[in-house]
Amino acid sequence: MRIGPYPIVPNLVLAPMAGITDRPFRQLCRRLGAGLAVSEMTTSDPRLWHTEKSRLRADHRGEDAPIAVQIAGYDAAMMAAAARHNVEQGAQIVDLNMGCPAKKVCRVDAGSALLKDEGLVAAICAAVVAAVEVPVTLKIRTGYDRTRRNAVAIAKIAQDAGIAALTVHGRTREDHYEGEAEYETIAAVKRAARIPVIANGDVTSARKAADVLRATGADAVMIGRGALGNPWIFKEISHFLATGTTSVPPSFEEVGATLLEHLDELHAFYGAGRGVRVARKHIQWYCQDHAGSEGLWLAVNRVECAQAQRALVAEFFAAGAREKAA
Ligand SMILES: Cc1cc2nc3c(=O)[nH]c(=O)nc-3n(C[C@H](O)[C@H](O)[C@H](O)COP(=O)(O)O)c2cc1C
Repeated sequence: MRIGPYPIVPNLVLAPMAGITDRPFRQLCRRLGAGLAVSEMTTSDPRLWHTEKSRLRADHRGEDAPIAVQIAGYDAAMMAAAARHNVEQGAQIVDLNMGCPAKKVCRVDAGSALLKDEGLVAAICAAVVAAVEVPVTLKIRTGYDRTRRNAVAIAKIAQDAGIAALTVHGRTREDHYEGEAEYETIAAVKRAARIPVIANGDVTSARKAADVLRATGADAVMIGRGALGNPWIFKEISHFLATGTTSVPPSFEEVGATLLEHLDELHAFYGAGRGVRVARKHIQWYCQDHAGSEGLWLAVNRVECAQAQRALVAEFFAAGAREKAA
């Protein structure tokens, strides 16, 4: 799959996830086999661009090309200006968020709420495409609700407006994250669209990724929650797609070493205080399937200091390794 001038190899994309796909996590997933990693959404409201949150979300130092930045908003001119601003900050692909059901976004008719208003979708896509030289991609759900699954209509609007690729999450806005993602609508979008289509929703294993690619005919799959605590999922999928066999999962030692590196990156990126808080959820995701993780989780929640957090995690993995060796 190509997005504008960029070949996306392999065709596996890390989903934008606010509070999660920060630069450290994007870099880790790219290193472990994602062909593209989309930033957390950034606001198109210029009044918020000076905040610490926006500053960190615009930090792409050391990231591999193509740098994909997602913007959220509801006003075509504002989103065009935000796209230009992000390109000046290093974005090589601008992704438009019309997939997020979060109240904070939908209250102001942004995110997936926009799917109700096809005229506004067309205006936003056209304004942003005209505003920047880089490829603009769009991320949507299958529709606003189950009675209004208009993803195929939106796909046509998007490609006519010059959108370079389209991601479809197989749920409606009203579904939030309930039930299972459906792939028939994504397959219909793929049949109708000339631009690359990326299928998203509930891909948590290599086999599921292969099934979704087959069922939808999509050009790529996007993985969100399946990568939490398991950034190896991209390699696992590539291996399965190439060989039809499952790969050996990372060893306990490798999980520990990767998590410790991830913690160091988070502490450096956010600073010790915020870094410790952001790291907690990652520690839980990496460790949840390992014996003794509840005790670690309780202890981790009590410490505020980066070195102490790191030491707890290092000891958890060292103790686990000693037990395995005994
Ligand atoms: C914690 C969290 C934050 C998310 N933030 C965003 C976001 O900023 N922009 C967006 O388009 N989608 C966002 N999403 C939706 C994901 O990109 C993805 O579409 C959804 O999780 C379904 O994919 P999955 O089943 O592979 O997780 C978020 C999802 C989660 C769980």
